[in-house]
Amino acid sequence: MKRIHLPVVLVLVLALLAACGGAAPATPSAKVATPAGTPEPTPDLRQELTTFENITNYNNFYEFSTDKQAVAGLAGNFRTNPWTLQVGGLVNKPMTFGIEDLLRQFTQEERIYRLRCVEAWSMVIPWQGFSLRKLLEAVEPTAAAQYVRFETLLDPTQMPGQKAGWYTWPYAEGLRLDEAMHDLTILATGLYGKTLLPQNGAPLRVVVPWKYGFKSIKSIVKIDLVAEQPTSLWMAAGPNEYGFYANVNPSVNHPRWSQASERRIGELSRRKTLPFNGYAEQVASLYAGMDLRRFY
Ligand code: MTE
Repeated sequence: MKRIHLPVVLVLVLALLAACGGAAPATPSAKVATPAGTPEPTPDLRQELTTFENITNYNNFYEFSTDKQAVAGLAGNFRTNPWTLQVGGLVNKPMTFGIEDLLRQFTQEERIYRLRCVEAWSMVIPWQGFSLRKLLEAVEPTAAAQYVRFETLLDPTQMPGQKAGWYTWPYAEGLRLDEAMHDLTILATGLYGKTLLPQNGAPLRVVVPWKYGFKSIKSIVKIDLVAEQPTSLWMAAGPNEYGFYANVNPSVNHPRWSQASERRIGELSRRKTLPFNGYAEQVASLYAGMDLRRFY
């Protein structure tokens, strides 16, 4: 990882500005009503929100660029309407949804989640979206379905990064069925009260907050219920570095860097990384009895 060495004086000035409230405030969140009776799934992270500016200008979306600051500009004209999502495989009722059907059919709620990238930076993002479980229930997985496989749009004319041969496009990801059905797992359609921008995975992306960010696949067009564990783009690219589970784990390092701490975008000092990214209470039981060093 690259390190930026700021002169000490600059660090002190920045710290003073932050202490005096001079640092850029988080853009106020437009509230989306949580449906009555929906339990608050996680601690309220509203005080820690990363700014809209940072969330939408520091992105990993290799289909456009490997330069995080270049993605927003390159993705500006990406066509996200019309957009269809095919849901099939081992289900009783395969369906194709237009993005407008998904917005109409599934109540959108706000979920403020931490996002921890495998590269050891993090953010706190106020997503809007809906629980993936509701969509999966609508298609009725059969008893043979054990895993869920997700696929991003394949369109090298719009996504120049897909012309590069070193990855197996389209970007693909997977979850175990119980992970996909977990209440924390959502399909996001917006953030900060606004429709999702292309750089964040418009019009529809997965968000799995207890796993490294690469599991949260963007701009999806296909979901398949399958019997075997799917191979993701990152598992194919570097099987020794990226596993299927990718649960945030400060005690299992990436072969090339430590995962013990992280840099929260917008902050100067590093903070400790939390097991399961702070969601252990909700999800640790999914992995009871598993050796998480082996199943990384
Ligand atoms: N999805 C696709 N299709 N392509 C990508 O390159 N990058 C992943 C994930 N989803 C990626 C993707 C990685 S590594 C991270 S950390 C998050 O998206 C970043 O999401 P953000 O840019 O909205 O913060």
